[in-house]
Order: sequence, then structure tokens, then C-alpha cells
Amino acid sequence: MATLLSLVFGFACLALHGLSSAAPPDINNKTYEYIVVGSGPGGGPLAANLAKAGHSVLLLEAGDDQTENLNVSQWVNFNAAGNDPATRWDFFVKHSNDAAREARYLHRTWRRTDGGFYVGIDPPTGAKPLGIYYPRAGTLGGCAMHNGCLTMNPDDVDWNGIAETTGDESWSAENMRKYLVKLEKAHYNSSYVHGHNGWLDTTMLDSGYAGFEDARELITLAAQAAGYKASDTISLLTRDMNGNQTNRDNLVGPFGGVSHINPNGRRSSPGYYVRDTVAKNKYPLTLSLDTLATKVIFKSTGTAPRKKAAGIEYLQGKSLYSADPRSNANATGRAGKVYASREVIISGGAFNSPQLLLLSGIGPRKQLEKFRIPVIADLPGVGQQLADNYEAGILSLANRAVNVGQNIFPNFFKSSVGKIRDIYMWCGNFAFEGFWPGFPNIPEKNFTGDYGPKEYECALVHMNPRSQAGTIELQSTNPRDVPVINLNFFKDGADEDLTAIYEGVEWVRSWLSKVNASEPTSLAPFEEKHPCDGTIGKQNCTAAAQKMYIKEQAYSHHASSSARIGADDDRYAVLDSEFKVRKVTGLRVVDASSFPKVPGGFPVLPTMMISEKATDVILQGLADEQSKAQ
Ligand SMILES: Cc1cc2nc3c(=O)[nH]c(=O)nc-3n(C[C@H](O)[C@H](O)[C@H](O)COP(=O)(O)OP(=O)(O)OC[C@H]3O[C@@H](n4cnc5c(N)ncnc54)[C@H](O)[C@@H]3O)c2cc1C
Ligand SMILES: *[C@@H]1O[C@H](CO)[C@@H](O)[C@H](O)[C@H]1NC(C)=O
Ligand SMILES: *[C@@H]1O[C@H](CO)[C@@H](O)[C@H](O)[C@H]1NC(C)=O
Ligand SMILES: *[C@@H]1O[C@H](CO)[C@@H](O)[C@H](O)[C@H]1NC(C)=O
Ligand SMILES: *[C@@H]1O[C@H](CO)[C@@H](O)[C@H](O)[C@H]1NC(C)=O
Ligand SMILES: *[C@@H]1O[C@H](CO)[C@@H](O)[C@H](O)[C@H]1NC(C)=O
Ligand SMILES: *[C@@H]1O[C@H](CO)[C@@H](O)[C@H](O)[C@H]1NC(C)=O
Ligand SMILES: *[C@@H]1O[C@H](CO)[C@@H](O)[C@H](O)[C@H]1NC(C)=O
Ligand SMILES: *[C@@H]1O[C@H](CO)[C@@H](O)[C@H](O)[C@H]1NC(C)=O
Repeated sequence: MATLLSLVFGFACLALHGLSSAAPPDINNKTYEYIVVGSGPGGGPLAANLAKAGHSVLLLEAGDDQTENLNVSQWVNFNAAGNDPATRWDFFVKHSNDAAREARYLHRTWRRTDGGFYVGIDPPTGAKPLGIYYPRAGTLGGCAMHNGCLTMNPDDVDWNGIAETTGDESWSAENMRKYLVKLEKAHYNSSYVHGHNGWLDTTMLDSGYAGFEDARELITLAAQAAGYKASDTISLLTRDMNGNQTNRDNLVGPFGGVSHINPNGRRSSPGYYVRDTVAKNKYPLTLSLDTLATKVIFKSTGTAPRKKAAGIEYLQGKSLYSADPRSNANATGRAGKVYASREVIISGGAFNSPQLLLLSGIGPRKQLEKFRIPVIADLPGVGQQLADNYEAGILSLANRAVNVGQNIFPNFFKSSVGKIRDIYMWCGNFAFEGFWPGFPNIPEKNFTGDYGPKEYECALVHMNPRSQAGTIELQSTNPRDVPVINLNFFKDGADEDLTAIYEGVEWVRSWLSKVNASEPTSLAPFEEKHPCDGTIGKQNCTAAAQKMYIKEQAYSHHASSSARIGADDDRYAVLDSEFKVRKVTGLRVVDASSFPKVPGGFPVLPTMMISEKATDVILQGLADEQSKAQ
């Protein structure tokens, strides 16, 4: 287990290496077997794997290489990484079409007249609302270069559901776990089968139990509240959340948290895998950084009714996408075209993959016609049915400073409305209230993002939200513009989802209220900040009021399903179960957009797993084709 000390020590030991700033390669008019757009968890491993299998691959990435930027490489710096203009892409979204509800979002972001941001509900004169900040990374390795690194295989039901709806048994949880084992290099002990030779380091974090008296007390109460004996606590804390326990979907209470870092706290991610594969100089992998794909090129093939994806139009240049805080509309970039003899694979992430499809004429006919984009394929699901995990928290102040260690969090699963576990939470002395420019600080209010040493939060993630009504639509036909995004939170199933989150909050209160306030150095009583202001154990907020707070202040950063897999008769299915875009040939989407619904609580590992699966599917398809031709 990584201890706090080794994390800090790892940080102190690392020196800053030179960052890549070489001009992108000349790819204009060249042909590769495969072109992959986007080097995140979806595209990065797939591009590297296909090249390692001997195929010529061009990987296009809009951002540059920040793999040795200490904000990025050192996991403990994830908040700084999330705010680093060298990697971040700023999106602003809506949660609904209800203007009054949007105005009540406490961390709404505005553009001040002097060009700076304002975060809050009481903007200065002249400020223009931008919306709800949504963090993304435009850099080699995608969002896995600045994310929180939590590494979770979804519940079995999530994978099995894909197998059931598509009839493709290769999506079964049992089969999918093979990809986890294949990609990981696990640095922790488990009684379940794990991989130790993959490209992704995984480490089980310290829960804080051994080193911190306060952690011991709180975790033990939580374990008891989950139905376990206090004496079981220690063993529960190393329970493997990525094991293949029978009945794992029903296992609740404490688990060991697994992260995609090495035991010294160094981030591991597709960015490093791609970088290292290129550096070996022995695989036919061409990486073109600072290259924004702007359109898929299609061609007609003989008498075949379907058009084939034949290449990509692109722009080369720094910070061309307008979500990049450094972008300058005057820098126009160098345009070019590059061709794929076999396939084009789009892996731009849940916002950018549908945008690129739409720009290329694949999407809902009405929208394409509105922007006078020639329709290549009328696919109503492109940019529709965007899904996301709901996130909320219960934040309180203890009676004295809480000592549970920084950056080491105990993790808990809980089940509520669903038959299986549906809430995941992690607790510690931090305050996580969503995202905005500068998070967790609010620089223009001189708020440091923390409520001082007494703060204690349990952050909650809804793992199986019922609503899936988000939309991504073009703002213009300029590929450098961001699309218009509305998550349409809680449009469907609001009662059940709010109840699940609310019961999670109540569960946390149930054990915080058991801390004995009469002990001389007690942490209790806890003064809750939200969702119910007041002393824990003595509050009288109504459930309805708390649910309203949760509904209006929920946040998210796990967008998925915006160009999703589905059954043949599913109107919104953009992809078949082999990631192939319907109604055309030679085109796939492999990233978080591909999931039929959110893949459990945390999308990064499942996205890497489907990247491995796509590798298999593509290579198998090629082998079948070649054996047929013989
Ligand atoms: C702050 C933050 C914290 C997170 N924490 C966690 C966590 O702890 N655990 C977890 O499981 N998940 C977490 N996530 C979510 C997770 O990182 C993402 O779901 C995951 O990275 C999605 O992978 P992807 O390949 O679909 O897309 P992305 O990671 O978004 O990668 C897409 C890549 O494509 C590039 N690209 C896009 N469009 C183009 C184009 N037109 N041309 C060329 N390149 C393009 C982008 O620059 C980017 O590099 C977090 C996300 C954020 C933002
Ligand atoms: C592109 O390549 C083709 C074939 O190699 C060649 O015929 C053509 O002239 C090239 N076009 C440009 C603009 O370089
Ligand atoms: C790290 O990110 C912060 C913003 O969060 C930025 O100010 C700083 O310059 C970055 N540091 C490095 C080494 O790039
Ligand atoms: C795993 O177990 C072995 C044998 O008990 C022990 O030596 C090793 O330190 C353990 N590794 C971790 C990461 O806990
Ligand atoms: C877990 O996976 C291993 C290896 O695939 C397998 O042998 C074992 O039977 C599985 N266990 C359960 C409980 O499914
Ligand atoms: C872009 O060009 C215009 C016209 O030359 C100029 O006025 C403007 O300042 C430039 N903008 C930036 C951000 O450089
Ligand atoms: C923030 O702090 C700075 C420096 O102390 C001060 O000048 C500024 O007025 C403060 N801003 C607010 C909104 O309090
Ligand atoms: C709470 O602490 C006080 C003081 O130590 C003690 O007398 C009391 O028994 C404790 N209550 C419980 C329920 O343990
Ligand atoms: C609710 O609590 C507040 C203080 O916490 C108190 O003033 C008020 O009377 C309480 N209301 C009810 C109905 O108990």
C-alpha cells in the first residue's frame, strides 16, 4: 500500500524533464492503415496496441505532450493539473433548460467585463453567464492526465447489460475482466486474479486507518453502519474493489481504493503508454500532436451502398480548439488531409466524438440540415442520450481539527433504491463541491477551497443514474468552436435517484452521529454545511428540501454515451457491439461515448478496457477477412 510518506517522497524525488515541443510531423496526403483521433483512455491504448501488432497507425491529438509536467505526473497534484492551462479544456454546460434553476447553481461561472471569471450567484455588473464549468483535458493521454485516478471496474450488471441488449456475449463481465487483467500492472496483493505485466500501474491507496486515530474511529463506525463487526474493519479496508468476487454487485461497506498510479504516487495513464511506445522506435506508430481533426473524409466504394471513411481533415497548430484557454482565433493552423487504408477510429471523448461526427455529416438529419452539412448518415443518437454520474457530498465541520491524512481516502459502497449497490463514496478532510475555474479555490473571492482543518466530507457518486437525456449539439460548423451541451440532469427517474443519494447522505450522518460527543477530545458534534445546515443528530431539514438541494447542486465529470452502442432496433444506437458506426463502413467510435449507459461509478478504467477490447475486435476482424480471402 502506498503511504502518505511514499507519495510525498516520490514527489520530492522527481526532476522536471524537458517537455516535448517539437513541431508535429508532416502527415499531409499520407496514408496509414489506421487513423485514431484522440489519445485518451479510448484512443491511446488502441493506437499503441494496433501499432504493436504491426499495423501502421496515425494517432492525432489536439493537445501536446505534458507527461513530464509535475502537475500531471504526480498524482497528488491532480487539482493543480485540472487547472493547468497547459492541459485543460474549459467546457461550460447546462444542467437543464430551466433558466431559474440554472441561476440557482451556486458555482455558476460568468465572464467578467475585464475578461476574468466570476464564480457564484451574485455576479458583478456586466458579467455574462458562461454556464456550469465542466473540466476536460486536451493533451496526450486525455483526461487520464489530470483526473483523480480512481480505478474501478463497474458492477457485473453493467457489462452483462451490454451483452444482453446487443446479444454479443463477448461483453459479459467475465470476459471483460480479461481486459482489466491484460492492461494492468497491479502493485497490490489480492486473492483474485490480476495482471502484473500490463501498461497501467494500479496501486491500492492507504485508507488512513493504520496511521490516524481519527480515521480509525470514523471508518470503524462506518463499517458497523454497513452491517459488519468492528473487528472486521481492517480486513475490509483491503477488500479488492476490482476482484471478481461472486455476487460482487451486492457487496457494500468499506473497500480498498485502487488508483492508476505507481506506489510512489506517479500517475500511470495512456499518455505514458503512447509516449513510451513511440519512443521505442520499433513500431509503426506516428503521433501527431497539436493536430485537431476537423472532419472525416468519406468516399463511395464501387456499388456499395454505404460510404466508407477514408481519412481525416485536420488543422495543425497549438491550442486551436477554443476550449483551450490559450486559444487565439487569429492563429488559424495549417490545414491538411490524411488517409486511412483500413479504418478511422474516433476517440475524442464524450463531447468531441459526437461533435466530429456531426461536422462530418453523421447525426440527426434535422440538425445536420440546419447547419447545411451534407448528410452522410442519419443517426438520431449522435450527441443524444448523453449520460453522467451524479455527484454530491455531505460536508461538515468537526468539533476540532480532523486528522485523517491528506489524499488518502476510505471508500464505501452502499445500496439503496436499486437491488444492487448504487452509491459509492469516499471520505476525508477535504471539501469537494464541484468544478469551476480555479477549483477547489474561488480565486476572485479569496476562498481557498477549504473550510479549514475541521472539514470532513463524504463525496458521493451515483453509479447507476436513471436519466440519460443529455444533449450535445453543434454551435456552428467551425470545428474550433465548442458544442452546446445540456446534461438535462434528473429528467427521468429523479425520485429514485434523489432518494438513493439522499439515503447515502443519511447513512453518513448515521455514523457521524455515533461519535461520542462526551469524550474529552471528541470530533463530535459535527456541524453540517450541506445539504442540511445544522448540528448532526439535531437537524430538522425535510427530506424534500435536502433532495432539492442535491438536485440543483449536483455536479459531474464522467460524461459518456453520446454516440453509444445499442441493439439493431434501437433508434438511438450509433454503434453496433463492435464499435462500428452504423450506416457507413470503415469508421468506429471507441471512448466514453461508446457506453450504452454510464459504466458504473468511474469511467476511466472501463474506457481503457474497451480500448483493449476494440483492439481485439479489430485484429480478429482482420484475421477473419484474411482467412476468407485465402
Ligand atoms: C478532473 C477530472 C477528474 C476525473 N477523475 C476520474 C477518476 O478519478 N476516475 C475515473 O474513472 N474517471 C475520472 N474522470 C473521467 C475520465 O478521466 C474520463 O471519463 C476519461 O478520460 C474519458 O476517456 P476518453 O478517451 O473517452 O476521452 P478523453 O479522456 O476526453 O480523451 C479524448 C482526447 O481526444 C483529444 N481530442 C478531442 N477531440 C479531438 C480532435 N477533434 N482532434 C484531435 N484530438 C482530439 C483530446 O485532446 C483528448 O486528449 C475524471 C475526469 C476529469 C476531467
Ligand atoms: C497526394 O498523393 C498522391 C498519391 O501519392 C499524389 O498523386 C498527389 O499529387 C498528392 N497530392 C498532393 C496535394 O500532394
Ligand atoms: C501547474 O498548474 C498551475 C495551475 O493549476 C499553474 O499555475 C502552474 O504553472 C503549473 N505548474 C507547472 C509546473 O506547469
Ligand atoms: C504482498 O504480500 C507479500 C507477502 O505477504 C508482502 O511481502 C508484500 O509486501 C505485500 N505487498 C504489498 C504491496 O502489500
Ligand atoms: C475469477 O477469475 C478467475 C480467473 O479468470 C477464475 O479462475 C475464477 O473462477 C473467478 N472467480 C469467480 C468467483 O468467478
Ligand atoms: C486578432 O487580430 C485582430 C486584427 O488584427 C486584432 O485586433 C486582435 O487583437 C487579435 N487578437 C488576438 C487575441 O491576438
Ligand atoms: C482578495 O485579496 C486581495 C489581496 O489581499 C485584496 O486586494 C482583494 O480585495 C480581495 N478580494 C476580495 C473579493 O475580497
Ligand atoms: C461517551 O463518553 C463518555 C465520556 O467518556 C462516557 O461516559 C460514555 O459512556 C460514552 N457513551 C457511550 C455511549 O459510549
Ligand atoms: C429546527 O431547528 C432550528 C435550529 O436548528 C430550530 O430553531 C427550529 O425550531 C427547529 N424546528 C423544528 C420544527 O423543530
